[in-house]
Amino acid sequence: MTESKNLWGGRFTEKPDETFAEFNNSFKFDRRLFAADVRASIAHCNGLFHAGVLTRLEAEKIKNGLMTLLKRADYDRNYFSDVDAEDVHSFIEARLVQLIGDAGKKLHTGRSRNDQVATAFRLWLREEIVEISKLVREVQRALTEAADRQRTAVLPGYTHLQRAQPVLWAHWCLAYFEMFARDRERLDETWRRTNVLPLGSAALAGTSYEIDREAVARELGFEGVTANSLDAVSDRDFCVEFVGACALIMVHLSRMAEDLILYASSEFQFIELSDAVSTGSSLMPQKKNPDALELIRGKAGRIFGHQTALLTTLKGLPLAYNKDLQEDKEAVFDAADNVEICLKVAAIVLRNLRVNEEKTRLAATKGYLNATELADYMVHKGVPFRTAHDLTGKIVLYAISVGKELHELTLDEMQKFTAYIENDVFEALSLEQTLASKAQIGGTSPERVYESLDAAMTEIEREEESR
Ligand code: ARG
Repeated sequence: MTESKNLWGGRFTEKPDETFAEFNNSFKFDRRLFAADVRASIAHCNGLFHAGVLTRLEAEKIKNGLMTLLKRADYDRNYFSDVDAEDVHSFIEARLVQLIGDAGKKLHTGRSRNDQVATAFRLWLREEIVEISKLVREVQRALTEAADRQRTAVLPGYTHLQRAQPVLWAHWCLAYFEMFARDRERLDETWRRTNVLPLGSAALAGTSYEIDREAVARELGFEGVTANSLDAVSDRDFCVEFVGACALIMVHLSRMAEDLILYASSEFQFIELSDAVSTGSSLMPQKKNPDALELIRGKAGRIFGHQTALLTTLKGLPLAYNKDLQEDKEAVFDAADNVEICLKVAAIVLRNLRVNEEKTRLAATKGYLNATELADYMVHKGVPFRTAHDLTGKIVLYAISVGKELHELTLDEMQKFTAYIENDVFEALSLEQTLASKAQIGGTSPERVYESLDAAMTEIEREEESR
């Protein structure tokens, strides 16, 4: 009797329908798990050997065979093309049996593709998370460099997209630095929960062979083993967490992109983007469009979509494994690929932009951004804040009517509103003083900002050295 071509054909008398086979096939995307699945298979083989299921010779044959597959895939670019395999797991097993013969048929003892796929996916993702975290770090580095290149640059800070109070450009850069610091923490936590071994859960009930799961986990560098086989084969929380972490990275990238798109417009003229990350118009010769940033902003939506897709797939799934779970891969792969490229492009944009310091300084001193300063000044002279706020509002109204900024008013003009204003008001209204007074932790005073910037830069450098 001949054995069936696929892994499960024994109880079947008819061949699968071609359209269904194509529908069911995951090899076209899960081949990305090839190396991870081979590594996990080697560890499983060791587990089987120590459990007494495989002889030393069989185990050696299987391991050498698996290593050979790895090498072949490495140098043969067509290794995966024109392959008729249901998924990466059946592909590896078929190739192994082809290569080493019957010993290869023993590898699947005591495991199921259900614990196998969860294991390979976790292994693969574990590395991907490290990669993405490094790329987030590069964006952080580019932010500190942009801040450091133009330490004295100021920006009008906005609320409601209305000029509010002046801030340092470096303060803007470090705001995004903070967001990405939280993203890296989230990635770390996701890594921790991803780094648990499901292998040994078999199809759903656990394995009936005496495999030392903890030893297998150690061999693969997993922190521990999953505690419940039903949960282990159907848990994709780590995928949701990962894509969720990616979604927040994209929120941060796209907010940053939006700020920069605005700042680069003729209306603002705060920054100049490099030609290297802009495109022209096929019709309007004068155009220089911030496509790099717009694409980053645009791609955020697709990653949020993957998160919704995953949650929806998981919701209401009965225990344990269901084929629905095969849908996890493309969502995670696509999120990872797109977050990676967006992070790379964002770093390039940041490395190549320049703040138009004169323009931003002018903008930061026009539009009554020091009105709060005037109210605070009165508070220091003993006026209750609410009264000071009201008086300042009236002075602003007056200043608007005579077409002057607050610091352009004469002392006389101001004293008509209150005798609390004296000659030292001009010092208080200056841009320098406005910035310097925000000197508590988290404020935009140069003292505070440079402290944070220097700390961030030292931290990045130190990390670099210790690598
Ligand atoms: N390709 C499948 C997946 O990605 C592998 C697991 C298949 N298991 C099964 N019992 N059909 O989920």
